[in-house]
Amino acid sequence: MDNQNTTIAIIGATGATGKFVLQKALQANYNIKVLARSPQKLDEHKGKIEIVKGSISDLNTVKSLVEGSDVVLSSLGTNKKPNYIVEKGVKVILEAIQSSTSKPRFIHMSAVGLGDSIIQCRKSWLWTLIVKLSFPLIGSEIFADMERAEELISQATDVKSVIMRAAILNNEPARGYIVRSSTEPAGKIFISREDIANFMLASVTDTTFDGKAVSLFSS
Ligand SMILES: NC(=O)c1ccc[n+]([C@@H]2O[C@H](COP(=O)([O-])OP(=O)(O)OC[C@H]3O[C@@H](n4cnc5c(N)ncnc54)[C@H](OP(=O)(O)O)[C@@H]3O)[C@@H](O)[C@H]2O)c1
Repeated sequence: MDNQNTTIAIIGATGATGKFVLQKALQANYNIKVLARSPQKLDEHKGKIEIVKGSISDLNTVKSLVEGSDVVLSSLGTNKKPNYIVEKGVKVILEAIQSSTSKPRFIHMSAVGLGDSIIQCRKSWLWTLIVKLSFPLIGSEIFADMERAEELISQATDVKSVIMRAAILNNEPARGYIVRSSTEPAGKIFISREDIANFMLASVTDTTFDGKAVSLFSS
């Protein structure tokens, strides 16, 4: 596929993971549209990307982001209580995709421990401990928000989606990743955000995980 003829819509590109997603999409020479509340954060990429200014909560803005795209890559998130945005954002993204003419695929970033990946966590004492500690430390509402977002995606069977659950993120250089289903054992605790971006970019052309929820661990 000629990458210049493939349009990627990126959500979260101003964030810690999304900046790698954007960087790698640029390196791969894709046609890129980015949603940004603060476009000045992307000044270094001016002229190389199309910026759609606005919030994920604005349906018309997200519709104009998504229209014409082939794939939507999202690392949307916030820890700022009480503005949990993932469920609300995913609802808008799905509606925008459903009403678009281009009907892009959707690659959504979530977290290990959510949905049926709790099964694989319970097989590992370390992951069991992490899940147990994360709720009081990070706040159970942030996980509940992300879990509801996963449920919305699973219900929207007319949208080709991948739920990619990441292990705990760090900013180390990429080391390679392994993809596991919830019936397979949980892997290493930490994964590089760059590896997450590599998976997302690979998913632009690789449809192996469409319709699935998978966990991503460092190799
Ligand atoms: N920390 C972990 O170990 C871990 C593990 C697995 C999964 N996760 C989840 O993975 C996701 C990405 O993580 P990260 O560290 O890359 O997050 P991050 O640095 O906080 O980035 C979040 C992105 O979402 C954007 N965003 C937030 N609210 C928005 C809104 N209303 N409209 C448009 N954009 C909005 C932010 O834009 P602005 O620049 O405008 O704020 C930013 O670009 C999060 O959902 C996180 O909870 C985290």
